[in-house]
Amino acid sequence: MKIDFKYANGLYTNDEYNKALEEVLASKKVLDSKSGEGNDYLGWLTLPEDYLASDELNRVLKAAEKIKGESDVLVVLGIGGSYLGAKSAIELLTPYFNDGMEILFVGNSMSSSYIYEVYNRVKDKDISLNIISKSGSTTETSVATRLFLNLLVQKYGDKAYDRVYATTDLNKGILHDLCLKRGIDMFEIRDDIGGRYSVLTAVGLLPMAVAGIDILAVLKGALEAQNDCKKNESLSLLYATFRYMMYKKGYEIEILSSFEPKMRGFIEWYKQLYAESEGKDHKGIFPTGAIFTTDLHSIGQMIQDGKRNIIETMVKINEPDNEVLVPEMEGNLDKLDFLKGMKISEINNKALIATALAHHDGGVPVATLELSKLDCSNYGYMVYFFMYACGLSAYSIGVNPFNQPGVESYKKNMFALLGKPGYEELAKEINKLLEEN
Ligand code: PA5
Repeated sequence: MKIDFKYANGLYTNDEYNKALEEVLASKKVLDSKSGEGNDYLGWLTLPEDYLASDELNRVLKAAEKIKGESDVLVVLGIGGSYLGAKSAIELLTPYFNDGMEILFVGNSMSSSYIYEVYNRVKDKDISLNIISKSGSTTETSVATRLFLNLLVQKYGDKAYDRVYATTDLNKGILHDLCLKRGIDMFEIRDDIGGRYSVLTAVGLLPMAVAGIDILAVLKGALEAQNDCKKNESLSLLYATFRYMMYKKGYEIEILSSFEPKMRGFIEWYKQLYAESEGKDHKGIFPTGAIFTTDLHSIGQMIQDGKRNIIETMVKINEPDNEVLVPEMEGNLDKLDFLKGMKISEINNKALIATALAHHDGGVPVATLELSKLDCSNYGYMVYFFMYACGLSAYSIGVNPFNQPGVESYKKNMFALLGKPGYEELAKEINKLLEEN
């Protein structure tokens, strides 16, 4: 991976950069010495190294082989950090259209329409389940778990639980207790690793392995980043410095953009990582994303010409998975002969340069991350790169990167509205408020 700030030239001064660098280096000390807030959630710092040496890695590989051998479809149940990582890897590292093992994600919304369709799509196939929840009690995941466990029991009777794999806390929780009762195989989400930092555990690795992804290569790529991040001027630190400097200058939004639609899931993973880590105490850069050139025909206008509070991080992929050339048309009726014989990836690359130049001209500071190609090693590297930068960035703006107190507010209201025991008082308050309005 390479990082480049040439499309941000002139939009900051050396003094601003040096000041930000100094502060981010101070945050690096806090992160590496584990002396900051949330320091009991730093298990991910050495995770690539730890997981490569763990016994669980072999269990994950074995379970993946068993699932592939006996099922047509793996249903993965989880939400937030318990599904976005696996989904991002599968989208990024497997073909767009795939006739092999189907992997479906559910338990990540309360859409009865979606759940109904997934259920009906899989009910007559051979199914395995991977239930992923650190707390073991997240409502979206738990509701879907009931439904799909019942389906498996209906289909396979006593043998149903041999097809179920849970990734959760190994010492406590409702899911943990259920697994013990039913003899369900469990994989660990360590106490010291929060959901959004867990993609390099069984949370991400089991679904990835079932999808045929080389998880050893993913971990080795992440290990390379882990080693690089020890350095003072690692790519991750330079990126964190760029976004922190821009944040201090008043930029409020970061767009992670790519010219490869396979990056869509990765952008969703990045959004969750940065939003839940930084968005506290009325602080933080709002993380969002775009796939170009598609989105140049929708939000492009706003990026180019709207309120000047946006920075952009553009992921450039040098080598596509496959190449297509622009063919000939007899008589040049579409007037496209100037592109005849050109690689579509070359056109895409020119579009990237054109966009970066235009956005820079429009006052958007653009950082470019360059990858040789979308492969397992680069994926692992990117994951660690973004997690480490997120820790640095959050400490620099002065928030705890590893909690998410804001997420509880909607949950409390929902439990009260649904009549969950223990929420009676809040239910009264809410109902009164709703009546008054
Ligand atoms: O990053 C986080 O901690 C969250 O997004 C969680 O992953 C998400 O809320 C799901 O929680 P759980 O794994 O406990 O079901």
